Amino acid sequence: MKNLNNLVEDDLRMIWHPAAQMKEYNEDFPPVPVVSGHGCYLQTADGREIIDIVSSWWCNLLGHCNADITEALCAQAHTLEHVIFANMTHPWAVELARELLKILPRGLTHFNFGDNGSSSVEMALKMAFQYQYQTGNRRKIKFACLSEGYHGETIGALSVGSMDLYARMFRPMMMNNLHIEAPDCFRCPYGCDRCTCSVPCIEKARKAFAEHGEELCALIVEPLLQGAAGMRMYPASYLKALRQLCDEYGVLLIADEIATGFGRTGTMFACQQAGITPDLMTLSKAITGGYMPMSVVCATENVYRAFYADYKEGKAFVHSHTYAGNPLACSCALAVLKVLRRDHILEKASENATWLNDRFVDEFGNFAEVGEIRHLGLINAVELVADKNTKKPFESGLRIGYKLYKEALHNGLLLRNIGDIFYFNPPLNIEREDLDKALGIAVKSLKKILWSQRV
Ligand SMILES: Cc1ncc(COP(=O)(O)O)c(C=O)c1O
Repeated sequence: MKNLNNLVEDDLRMIWHPAAQMKEYNEDFPPVPVVSGHGCYLQTADGREIIDIVSSWWCNLLGHCNADITEALCAQAHTLEHVIFANMTHPWAVELARELLKILPRGLTHFNFGDNGSSSVEMALKMAFQYQYQTGNRRKIKFACLSEGYHGETIGALSVGSMDLYARMFRPMMMNNLHIEAPDCFRCPYGCDRCTCSVPCIEKARKAFAEHGEELCALIVEPLLQGAAGMRMYPASYLKALRQLCDEYGVLLIADEIATGFGRTGTMFACQQAGITPDLMTLSKAITGGYMPMSVVCATENVYRAFYADYKEGKAFVHSHTYAGNPLACSCALAVLKVLRRDHILEKASENATWLNDRFVDEFGNFAEVGEIRHLGLINAVELVADKNTKKPFESGLRIGYKLYKEALHNGLLLRNIGDIFYFNPPLNIEREDLDKALGIAVKSLKKILWSQRV
């Protein structure tokens, strides 16, 4: 174990944390030193246990220090840690491609590797652009995306995201894309109910395609779940209708399954609930169980063929990342897929999903400030509001969600908020006992924050 003396002080002196106001870290809320992890638990340097109910930014799929993945990683490290992926290949990448082929929506047959979610989004955007160019559609140069969408934080990915928080500052640097109003099932402007909805909101997309379809090269969406927007969930029929629109206007559909892939929404991939195959799909996060950075852009035969030509035609996709196809990451991904299959993880998670949602309704349903409890797979989100009847949000300066996050962390639960929304997105193999424990802490913390708010 490294010397833990002055860990936090030295961190604050030198390290710039992601998405953070460092002044707040320094003056109010220093980082928590974590020294080990096991299952859904993290151990801190001062001996406390914290339940990681958000799977460390949604990537930890099968618990921390999972025995099977650790074993695969260690064995791989003794065999081949990395090799250039240009003109070289290796058994672990090929085996991973074989395995992906078995579980992906039918038709996604070619895999281009990268090392993080944002870079795979960049890659998919460039592929779509070049595809249109090389298939004679040179006017198709614009991207469409959904409002409130999030696809990462590099410039291209930010440009197809619609979250002001991340994008505002960088607008002058960004591409001019078409932002289509996304479904808002909690505050539905059409007055629809989640259960009976016939997706009238698709009209917005229809209108946008009718006006701009000829110049659109691709539409990128987070299928079924707009995670960073606050776990906003929309019906599979909307996604299916988007697929039809793309077909009608010769627009490629990019499904960003970085957050939703590998069982998070109840099926292996969210697209499968809509029965669709996108032209391009991006994967990352859970693919290695949270062990190694890795991403994959999956493409159809049709897309792949548009790049396949004699060298002199200059149609190759000239894009590379140093860690493409990293063997350590491939071995972790293979171990993840093995465990998912061997231990029937999705089936068990789906039994727990129904149970967990019932527990959420029991525990949080009666709070005056709970506007909605929504769920998809094991993901359960609670949106807190100032007025339940009008769904009026809390004044943002009150930072209710952030206060809840701090209180829960103090009580041993990592319940990272998105504005005034809190959620569980646990490892798929979490035990009910641990979910119960997490619920207990969440309820206790919520009561404290809301009561202090009321007085
Ligand atoms: C849907 C989606 N796309 C892309 C990304 C970006 O991935 P990364 O953080 O690995 O760049 C994220 C990250 O949360 C995401 O949720």
